[in-house]
Amino acid sequence: MSPLPPPYYNDDKRSFAYPTVHKRWPTIIQGAIDDVQQTIEDEGQSHPEIRESGELILTQLKQLLLDFQNDLVVRPFTEEEIDLNENLTHFNTTLAKLNTQRKVTWQTGPWLYLECYLYQFVNNMFIGSTAKFWHSFDVFYRLKTKTFKQSELGVLELCKRYETLSKQLEKVQGDEETLYLLFTEFIDISLWGNATDLSLLAGNVTLEDIKSVQGAEVRKQNEEKIIVNDLQKAWQKSGLKENVGQGSTRVDFILDNSGFELFADLILSLFLLDSQLAGEVHLHCKEIPWFVSDTMPKDFDDLLSQLDDHEFFAQIYKDDPKAIQLVSKKIHGYFKENKIIINHHPFWTLDYNYWAIPQFKDLYTELQKSNLIIFKGDLNYRKLTGDLQWPKTTPFSEAIQDLQNSGLTILSLRTCKADVCVGLPNGLNEKLIKEYEEAGNEIGEFWSSSGKWAVISFNK
Ligand code: F6P
Ligand code: MG
Repeated sequence: MSPLPPPYYNDDKRSFAYPTVHKRWPTIIQGAIDDVQQTIEDEGQSHPEIRESGELILTQLKQLLLDFQNDLVVRPFTEEEIDLNENLTHFNTTLAKLNTQRKVTWQTGPWLYLECYLYQFVNNMFIGSTAKFWHSFDVFYRLKTKTFKQSELGVLELCKRYETLSKQLEKVQGDEETLYLLFTEFIDISLWGNATDLSLLAGNVTLEDIKSVQGAEVRKQNEEKIIVNDLQKAWQKSGLKENVGQGSTRVDFILDNSGFELFADLILSLFLLDSQLAGEVHLHCKEIPWFVSDTMPKDFDDLLSQLDDHEFFAQIYKDDPKAIQLVSKKIHGYFKENKIIINHHPFWTLDYNYWAIPQFKDLYTELQKSNLIIFKGDLNYRKLTGDLQWPKTTPFSEAIQDLQNSGLTILSLRTCKADVCVGLPNGLNEKLIKEYEEAGNEIGEFWSSSGKWAVISFNK
């Protein structure tokens, strides 16, 4: 067996890791500082213990910014931290291994490991606080909510699309070709939903940014930007179409971002359930605030309330509330009937890539029950492929290593926001590098982290 390629490192100037550690992480941490500051102002007057412990969190966050700048060695988690969160032992085991190769520092260590470590490190500051108030505090909540509110037009458009679906489904009646066309359309909705990602937009989200990635027009223009498309294969091999109406099929989503992307995933879920391609849909969430905008179970609850909130979506409720009410009623209905099920597991916020899933028996057993596991977004793709420097023509089945024959049916829907990308035909990477440079970008390789291209990769 040939040795695996190395991972991407933070000091590689031709990797998206480099601008991430130098610009994006500091922006994200500064955003967290501002949020804690704001919260202290809001709550601190009447609750001195919130202010005092909040000040301590601020000191730790500011120290973290200095640690990035000074390229400090990354330390193992302490016994006290592990007492609060036993999952951190995994991070220490990996760190010890990495340190035998070269000392891990913020600016030079492996990108994926350090990015996962970072979010656990920040989470520790909150769960370790002396005031209970901060223990379940989501420092990205304000940003998540604001961006979803700004997605009002995109939400309305998807609701209206969904409103017309039931009539189309009545006509389908065993017409496999039409059903497949609808399947591709709703997959597309979910795929491009991944373009709204707060860690990429890193805090400076404008309404124009959001409109530029949401909506049917944009999706249509982006058709040729899907550079790997295994959807036909997924349709043929997942067993969904053969079992329409049986109620026995199950689709799982390893979710990515909350807000608009989660909403798009729910629209796809409604399609799968209404068309009876799936009998149940399981949504897998993160247990801690993760990569800024990732979905936690509470974000699902928030989204349901926001859909019904006449002030939150004031324009929709003023102009045209019918479609959103229908969508909300449907999601609530399926949720009550246990056809939409919310799951969470600490595995999703470990540093491990997904080749390790079979070692987590409870999770593995659960996922084996699924006919199709949809991995949403960029980070999930990085973890499927180990975030290694694979030649871009490597087959997806090779890049997912032990998952290839794990019995799990995997469909990855990802807009490309990092270096790793596999399954490309010969010559395409070179062509895109050239194209991206000619468009005025200094580093052509960054096409694959620009969020402008996408892949749909499948393995059974
Ligand atoms: O922009 C890069 C990044 O921070 C990656 O580290 C990460 O993979 C991605 O953003 C998060 O994107 P997504 O929400 O699609 O997983
Ligand atoms: Mg994300």
